[in-house]
Amino acid sequence: MARILITSAIPYINGIKHLGNLVGSQLPADLFARYNRARGHEVLFLCATDEHGTPAELAAAKAGKPVADYCAEMWQVQKDLSDGFGLSFDKFGRSSSTQNRTLTQHFAGRLADAGLIDEVSEKQVYSNADGRFLPDRYIEGTCPNCGYDKARGDQCENCTKQLDPTDLIAPRSAISGSTDLEVRETKHLYLKQRSMRDQLQNWIDSKTDWPILTTSIAKKWLNDGDGLQDRGITRDLDWGIPVKRGTKDWPGMEGKVFYVWFDAPIEYIACAKEWTDATGRDDAEWERWWRTDKGADDVRYVQFMGKDNVPFHTLSFPATIIGSGEPWKLVDYIKSFNYLNYDGGQFSTSQGRGVFMDQALEILPADYWRWWLLSHAPESSDSEFTWENFQQSVNKDLADVLGNFVSRVTKFCRSKFGEEVPSGGTWGPDEEALIDRLQKGLTAYEMQMDAIEVRKAAAELRAIWVAGNEYLQNAAPWAVFKEDPDRAAAIVRLALNLIRVYAVLSAPFIPTASAMMLSAMNTLDTDWPGDMKEALSALPEGHAFSVPDVLFAKISDEDREAWQEKFSGQR
Ligand code: MF3
Ligand code: ZN
Repeated sequence: MARILITSAIPYINGIKHLGNLVGSQLPADLFARYNRARGHEVLFLCATDEHGTPAELAAAKAGKPVADYCAEMWQVQKDLSDGFGLSFDKFGRSSSTQNRTLTQHFAGRLADAGLIDEVSEKQVYSNADGRFLPDRYIEGTCPNCGYDKARGDQCENCTKQLDPTDLIAPRSAISGSTDLEVRETKHLYLKQRSMRDQLQNWIDSKTDWPILTTSIAKKWLNDGDGLQDRGITRDLDWGIPVKRGTKDWPGMEGKVFYVWFDAPIEYIACAKEWTDATGRDDAEWERWWRTDKGADDVRYVQFMGKDNVPFHTLSFPATIIGSGEPWKLVDYIKSFNYLNYDGGQFSTSQGRGVFMDQALEILPADYWRWWLLSHAPESSDSEFTWENFQQSVNKDLADVLGNFVSRVTKFCRSKFGEEVPSGGTWGPDEEALIDRLQKGLTAYEMQMDAIEVRKAAAELRAIWVAGNEYLQNAAPWAVFKEDPDRAAAIVRLALNLIRVYAVLSAPFIPTASAMMLSAMNTLDTDWPGDMKEALSALPEGHAFSVPDVLFAKISDEDREAWQEKFSGQR
């Protein structure tokens, strides 16, 4: 049994996430967490809301609420939606927690003690029209690297380059659009990342098994010459973690807060402490996941995120950890994702384009979305959501293949043998062939899941469903029954057992349907199959079951068209 620490990039607090956000981090992280628990590993799966920075301040102002109240409310909204999607976090924390405040200030103190922080008098953009300093994200302009004309002051969305606002060509205020900007003097802290370049380089070079998407982005910013700049880690804002050096005040830093990208990844650690604090356990319990001097050296730590997050997780956060000189756990594997597009364009939070988590659950159960999103995860390239594709995938994979198998087998058995696993007959060459196919399918499925190849894993699972369907079609117990009821009983016995096996194997993708299948099969046996033949005998002759409700309803053309129309405009 291994111990696996899993974190998903923590979603910004301002607003409800769209399906593109969901499939880029939280959902595949949940798939991996559920799978590893099912395989008997010890898993700690953490996520939280990313609550600091200007976006939170502005969203609260727009909602007419104090920012702390706004964040508390939105945390609950996001928590309810993540429950709705079945995201099985052990803790859904908050980056504004006291645990994160203490830890963030602690890291800053350690970094300063190690001589890795510079105090820099810097020039910051002040907007005369808006009467305030403009934080990075609220300055837009042209990217000096790729020429994209809507690059933000912290990062270019188009080429993923991390930027400083003063890098932008033709900058303007994103609040008012005003170009009446001036540069004023103010003091800030800088993390001397450049001096850690070699350590970071060696560390990344040692990660030969990482996805190309992850390492290519990391290496690009490491090797581009100007890639690894010292990073400003403080901001002139009200809302955030006050700048302190450990527990001590930091002269000259009064009224300033840490930059949101400094404290957000530290929440991965703080979240574990939130988890133990909330459940009355002592510090040793979270430290054994995070401190290599306290047991975490045999933890495997896997992070999930969209590609725009990669530089922060391959360079900035490791620099914080390495620079602290303390034995914190570094990530072992970073699974990153491309973007999911929506119906010929991009999902967009600011424009309200696409399907958002709340809307998705209003129209269909979570499993329909989970299946489509995961089986079309944007791994090797961007992928696209279209309603046609979604309808087809739900109707074929879920309704025709899996759902139909379950319904046919249980109904046929009820009508001919009653609601219990029938006895009589024996298995022959057809069953052996099927078992052999399932055994190979299982190995392939496990391989893809272990490798976090999400699409390929979905394809292997689908192939396992298809194998059962084809077997049933060929074995045709309904035809055999008239001549040889015992033979039909043997077929149905296998098929009923296969429903249980399907429930177990499919649970990481479609947990709700899986639970329905298990409850119809009247069993608590969720043991992951090892030997297929054995697994297919788990439900003995005479074991009672019931016919479940329809597992997956088909999406009609009318529904599809109505939804397409409904979601074509703005939110
Ligand atoms: N909130 C960021 C986003 O949605 C992700 C932060 S991940 C962490 O892009 F590293 F900061 F935790
Ligand atoms: Zn760019």
